[in-house]
Amino acid sequence: MKNESLNYYLIFITKVRMSTIQKHNTQISNVLIIGSGGAGLRAAIEARRAGVEVTVIGKRKKEDVHTVLAAGGINAALGNVDPKDNWQQHFADTMIEGYLLSDPRTVELMAKEAPDLVQEIHEWGANFATLSDGRLDQRYFGAHTYRRTCYSGDYTGRSILFTLIKKAQELNIPIHDSQYVTELLVRDKTCFGAMTFDINTGERTVFLADAVILAAGGHTRIWRKSSSRRNENTGDGFYLALKAGCTLTDMEQVQFHPTGMVIPETIAGSLVTEAVRGEGGHLKNSKGERFMSKYDPERMELSTRDKVAMANYTEIMEGRGTENEGIYLDISHRDKDFIIEKLPRMYRKFLDTLMLDISKSPMEVAPTAHYSMGGVLVSPEEHATNIEGLYAAGEVAGGLHGANRLGGNSLAEILIFGKRAGSAAANRSINLQTQIRSKDVINQAHDSINAFIKNGDNVARPLQRSIRDTMWECCGVVRDEKLLQKGVSEINEIKEATTKLDVRPDSEGFEDLMLAFDLEGSLASAEATILSALERKESRGAHQRRDYTATNNKEYLVNFEVHWDANRKAIVTKHDVNPLSPELKKVIDDTSDISDFSGKLLE
Ligand code: FUM
Repeated sequence: MKNESLNYYLIFITKVRMSTIQKHNTQISNVLIIGSGGAGLRAAIEARRAGVEVTVIGKRKKEDVHTVLAAGGINAALGNVDPKDNWQQHFADTMIEGYLLSDPRTVELMAKEAPDLVQEIHEWGANFATLSDGRLDQRYFGAHTYRRTCYSGDYTGRSILFTLIKKAQELNIPIHDSQYVTELLVRDKTCFGAMTFDINTGERTVFLADAVILAAGGHTRIWRKSSSRRNENTGDGFYLALKAGCTLTDMEQVQFHPTGMVIPETIAGSLVTEAVRGEGGHLKNSKGERFMSKYDPERMELSTRDKVAMANYTEIMEGRGTENEGIYLDISHRDKDFIIEKLPRMYRKFLDTLMLDISKSPMEVAPTAHYSMGGVLVSPEEHATNIEGLYAAGEVAGGLHGANRLGGNSLAEILIFGKRAGSAAANRSINLQTQIRSKDVINQAHDSINAFIKNGDNVARPLQRSIRDTMWECCGVVRDEKLLQKGVSEINEIKEATTKLDVRPDSEGFEDLMLAFDLEGSLASAEATILSALERKESRGAHQRRDYTATNNKEYLVNFEVHWDANRKAIVTKHDVNPLSPELKKVIDDTSDISDFSGKLLE
């Protein structure tokens, strides 16, 4: 009896200790970067060059992050091929094709700084295609007034990523793969680090830092057809930001790329680069018609992405698609050598997966969810969020693209705003007098991981699949009130199902825990997207409503923002867009005609 009570006492003591002192490693650096894609690495390089200690963490292997998939090119108004191009025209194209929702100062910075940073990464080894005189070649991309897209074949993202990795290694910047971030550590509206677990071992680490840069990508994997792969772009970056107290903007603006693969089913949705059209590819329906002549006779296949996606969608929905519910993209009129030089990855991909030689036969393609144009609300210059010490860059950040992103602007974005965020984070660290640390916050982060680990009735993958089906059906290329409301209730049902989630890292490994967090991230992002889409009762760019087909500049030249209240309820608010300064308005007036401006694509 005596021994039994002693045992009980020991167990009790152990339990009390466990709940107050929980095991983790600790790593300290001046700047912590979450995400090892292009934006994260460019930020890391800049912070390191400013003289501070930097750590980069990412959930995937650094050579296989989403940037590696970026294909057709990166924009910079160099004027190498079309000498009339300049930053002003790049600015105007981006603002107008984004249907005036973009933040003008952010666009101005991108247009002005892209030439230097594109030249810089080329000199670091990205090895872009060049003209005979050694200057960078520039190809056509949709809706650019001039040829301004620099490129390495159709693997531009890979060239940039590998160059950044090499540069980071030269600067001795540690990059830790397989780190899953569960929480940004925030006290008194100040971020002081992040909690992670290792996806292979479950080992937890508290990364402490004076400044944190979130560069964790977007959420387009939560649509049934997506150009993102399994376990990437699941919305985890948005979820971390919302939990930390940040605001998201323009979440309803999701870009559907016009040309994703249709078959085989296992990779349906994966990207068929716009460079195919840039290099002369034609879109045709099952009747052999080059149907873009109906939708944009002037720009044809090189119209804006929203217009081409809508045209492809309409042809398929109206019964002029292929038997696999796609339309044809044909480059077979070009020389085989030309295709292999300009589009080597596309050439190989169709041969590898379908035994299809694109120099002889057309590809079947259809719209696919491609890019989160909204994201964390940040200041233009520093990409600082509303949480002290927390910055965001790359796809996770909002502000640049408005209602329709120009292809090639996202690779420019990662270099420019990665660099800016890295510099701002380093400055904050250098000037910081007092550092905030909180054991309570760290313990709460442990507790929220622990709360996930339990037996239950549901597993994450099928629920993730349900989210993708819901988003595709209810918040896809064309939306309406009824479908969006259906989406809300289905997302709520999936949320309810996650309360009985089965997470067993002991038997299933820690990927099981990662999937549980990803699911939460996807639900939070889906909700923010659908709720914003419900509020925008008009059609503008990528957001097309069957029940409100007109563009309503009187009421909806606004950004919708989402934040969480204390009970994690998503609240949507409406804000006038940031105005164009008189100088920037003049840039648009001097370079472009917006008299027939309309975001309406539906009749
Ligand atoms: O089609 C593409 O190559 C995609 C480029 C982009 O999204 O910027």
